[in-house]
Amino acid sequence: MQPVKKVVIPAAGLGTRFLPVTKSQPKEMLPVVDKPAIQYVVEEAVRAGLTDVLIVTGRGKHAIEDHFDRNFELEVQLERAGKRALLDAVLNPSEMAAIHYIRQKEPKGLGHAVLTARDHVGDEPFAVMLGDDIMVDDAEVLRSMLDVHARYGRSVVALQEVPRGDISAYGCVEPEPVDDLLVQVRSIVEKPDPTEAPSNLAVIGRYVFTPEIFDALARITPGAGGELQLTDAIALLIESQTVYGWTFEHGRYDIGKKVDFLRANIELALDRDDLGPELEAFLVDLVRRRKLL
Ligand code: G1P
Repeated sequence: MQPVKKVVIPAAGLGTRFLPVTKSQPKEMLPVVDKPAIQYVVEEAVRAGLTDVLIVTGRGKHAIEDHFDRNFELEVQLERAGKRALLDAVLNPSEMAAIHYIRQKEPKGLGHAVLTARDHVGDEPFAVMLGDDIMVDDAEVLRSMLDVHARYGRSVVALQEVPRGDISAYGCVEPEPVDDLLVQVRSIVEKPDPTEAPSNLAVIGRYVFTPEIFDALARITPGAGGELQLTDAIALLIESQTVYGWTFEHGRYDIGKKVDFLRANIELALDRDDLGPELEAFLVDLVRRRKLL
């Protein structure tokens, strides 16, 4: 089985859910504690053994390229000031993986964004990671999905149960149990009406694909929201290849959603030795002052 080395990170979206802050700043660059959201995604990819990262950008996304580039002026200043830890933090994004970029010239949807990666990926299996979803380290979702791909040689999507009323914000699958956390995807539909959804298992932004997904992406027509949907290509792929779903329960933050963005910041900051104790004291005091308990 060819090991998965490449990952595609679509980052061309307009970030309308997070306006006005995304008016002049890519949503992928929103800070979670002190790192931009997209850095967590690249770090997760690297931890899972992926070494070749293709970021699909669009207009107004230069800040992403700058972040993963060197900044000599800053590096020299930090070096001279003897600020070693900060220097490492600044260098780290430029050294963590081979990062490539391609531009999606028109906002035609997630399926179209992934299709722009075809030449770069070639005839290999690859992963797709959506920058809106941050997974905490112990979740190991992507690593488990890569294990499933290594075992079966087929595509795998990440699945999480969501409240029935929320399912219309996601791709939704009809599952057939295989074992404990693994299901076979019988069918998949993008943003279904809750009354018609085949389950409350939502597709979360982690995928491992066989290269045949590109043939399916080349065949789809505009779907939900008038966009070329990755989900519709997966539905086509299912006609010729088994597609698996890896279910998980914890560790995901949808940072494109304001309340989840705030939760992610609080929880990840609480985990930090340099910030956790002070923030915890503040939260305890806040609860008392606002009589929240
Ligand atoms: C996209 C996908 C959807 C998936 C979701 C996960 O939707 O189209 O299938 O469930 O990401 O976050 P979007 O959030 O771009 O509307």
